[in-house]
Amino acid sequence: MKWKFSAAIVIGFSGLAGTLFSCSPSPESKEALFEQKADSILKLMTLEEKIGQLSLFTSDWDVTGPVMNNNYKQLIKEGKAGAIFNAFTVDYVRSLQKIAVEESRLKIPLIFGYDVIHGHRTIFPIPLAQASSWDIESIEKSEQIAASEATAEGINWAYSPMVDISRDPRWGRVMEGAGEDVWLGSKIAAARVKGFQGENLAAPNTLLACVKHFAAYGGAEAGRDYNPVEMSQQMLFENYLPTYKAAVDAGVATVMTSFNDISGTPSTSNAWLLNDLLRKQWGFNGFVVTDYTSINELIPHGVAADSAEAGMLAVNAGVDMDMQGNIYNSKLVELVKQGKVTEETIDNAVKRILVAKYKLGLFDDPYRYCNKTREKEEVMSPDNIAFARKFVAKSCVLLKNENSLLPLSMPLKSIAVIGPLANAKQDMLGSWSAAGDGKKCVTLLEGLSSSLNGETSITYETGCGIDDNSTAGFAKAVAAAKRAQVVILALGESRDMSGEAASRSSISLPGVQQQLAEAIIKANPKTVVVLFNGRPLAIPELDAIAPAMLEAWFGGTEAGNGIADVLLGKQNPSGKLTMTFPRSVGQIPIYYNHKNTGRPIDPSKVEKYKSKYLDIANTPLYPFGYGLSYTTFDYSNVIVDKVEYGASDTIVARVSVINSGKYDGEEVVQLYVRDLVGEITRPVMELKGFSKVFIPAGSSTTVTFKLTSNDLRYYHSNMEYTFDAGQFEILVGTNSAKTKKAIFTIK
Ligand code: NOJ
Repeated sequence: MKWKFSAAIVIGFSGLAGTLFSCSPSPESKEALFEQKADSILKLMTLEEKIGQLSLFTSDWDVTGPVMNNNYKQLIKEGKAGAIFNAFTVDYVRSLQKIAVEESRLKIPLIFGYDVIHGHRTIFPIPLAQASSWDIESIEKSEQIAASEATAEGINWAYSPMVDISRDPRWGRVMEGAGEDVWLGSKIAAARVKGFQGENLAAPNTLLACVKHFAAYGGAEAGRDYNPVEMSQQMLFENYLPTYKAAVDAGVATVMTSFNDISGTPSTSNAWLLNDLLRKQWGFNGFVVTDYTSINELIPHGVAADSAEAGMLAVNAGVDMDMQGNIYNSKLVELVKQGKVTEETIDNAVKRILVAKYKLGLFDDPYRYCNKTREKEEVMSPDNIAFARKFVAKSCVLLKNENSLLPLSMPLKSIAVIGPLANAKQDMLGSWSAAGDGKKCVTLLEGLSSSLNGETSITYETGCGIDDNSTAGFAKAVAAAKRAQVVILALGESRDMSGEAASRSSISLPGVQQQLAEAIIKANPKTVVVLFNGRPLAIPELDAIAPAMLEAWFGGTEAGNGIADVLLGKQNPSGKLTMTFPRSVGQIPIYYNHKNTGRPIDPSKVEKYKSKYLDIANTPLYPFGYGLSYTTFDYSNVIVDKVEYGASDTIVARVSVINSGKYDGEEVVQLYVRDLVGEITRPVMELKGFSKVFIPAGSSTTVTFKLTSNDLRYYHSNMEYTFDAGQFEILVGTNSAKTKKAIFTIK
């Protein structure tokens, strides 16, 4: 049965919709139609009802921030909630939607939001791991699957993608992003938006994406969550803003403000950021939501004296929806009466939210996303699980592999699987695991056991806890290691050591895990370390003793199966780090695209007056773009097709890559550029392209990159976005620290 919105509105608009849609309307005419419809609804609304549309509340199902104890069901009934988050499953969403469309005066349907960060029920590797795959298609596909599962359970708004660039691995939220690089981060941001939203938001298996956290949340001082951000305009525009812009250009429907301030102005009261940059300059026409209680937090930030002032600052800055703070509901009516906020400002915000509801098709059918059959068939389907398994393998990064210890050579009589992460089901989910169920995760022990199928005897010992000081389990673990042909040692962090409010000042292995590694490797030198963590770790001591190390991150539902595929050589690892691994916390911030300084270190000499540390190298433990394969790739010299180009020419660079090893494999061929003489100082290299190529053993391939002067632009001292004529280096290679270069000039 078709749901009826309200007699007046159905009669007023269905005819118009029919006429316009019969000749497949352009997106612009659809948008215009939705705006007209929204205007008509606005005319029927009281000020309180309008403000209700601007208010978002969490259900009591899931808590992702401070508990506010709002009576959200009553608020829905009174028309004081436009959207609900943390509610899912067909029955539950249906029951809440029913209150909105049957019991509220205007019967306006609700939007249902959720943190669908790396999968919904089928949990994929954490986003930082996904980025390590450099596989943009798989990233997009993972969001399509996440959208199909989430929408089958009533959700139509995902609080993702998180595109915050960060150069500080102490910050726990690096697990949610794409790493440190703005170019790669922008490609990934666009792919995620496309994956979630598809071509048509009214399709039952697509949803509104929400790019977050606008802006520069990853620049938090000292890597401490929620800390202030201080940076130059150039740094902001060049390294931190483009990922959000890429999401906007890809058509993202909503934007979430960040908790931090930038140079003293919190994002949630930043009119320049939201009204001028996002809306006027970038042309964003969706709606802006705060992060959790961010309006309330304008008070402790020290820019608002009380809730009323906080509400006024936020709404006037361009914030449309108040997440969980209840400030709009409680303060905006009075602010409008006092003339501190205009009704036009409120109307514009309401309109943007109503248009989103039209785009989702909620006025045609508010239960569009509540489909029992889809819930049964699409959620955790065999196809989704199969994709997840492959995605885990693609996300693993091989950090070390002395004497080709990996892949494990079969047949193997015995393996000892040791370590606190070897059979840790819940941890496999990683943080922000949405509706994922730890009980359904495959651990490394389980993955190996089922892949080895009884042919190899497997012993298992935890050895120690993730973060405790007891060495009581060492003796048994050492004995098991001694008896086995090969040891797989699973070390790392627990899942809650990264994510929101999970910054660490030390990013070494927690607890006594380093000591465990020393004891095990001494007992059996054929030890492969598998790392589980949500951030780069500073582990030079482990690197010094472990013959082989595989970075497995947190792989989600199929973690153990995907890792087993890599260890056993069914999948050849091809992941590359998108965030630098430091040697020590003292090097942070450490990132590949740093400036040269006037006194760059000369690695061959020990000169005093150079930019260096007395006690440690400048270089990282593992650089950006780094990752090994079971095979080897040799690069030819880089050839540019001309030495001198005009400003509008295409710059063409070629390199041949030979697979000189024994295995077929994929290689991420990376292209960086350096502007040798800029108007202001420029980074020593910047990623401007990559190609992930499959090369059979013994074969070679030629990779061609094309650039234009657009790729060489940057923000000059007057903030003009342009490029310099002069000399540039092109650097191509297997990672940012191992490249070959060619020089060209732009006239
Ligand atoms: C706070 C987080 O910062 C944000 O990313 C998330 O979407 C909201 N809570 C809602 O859970």
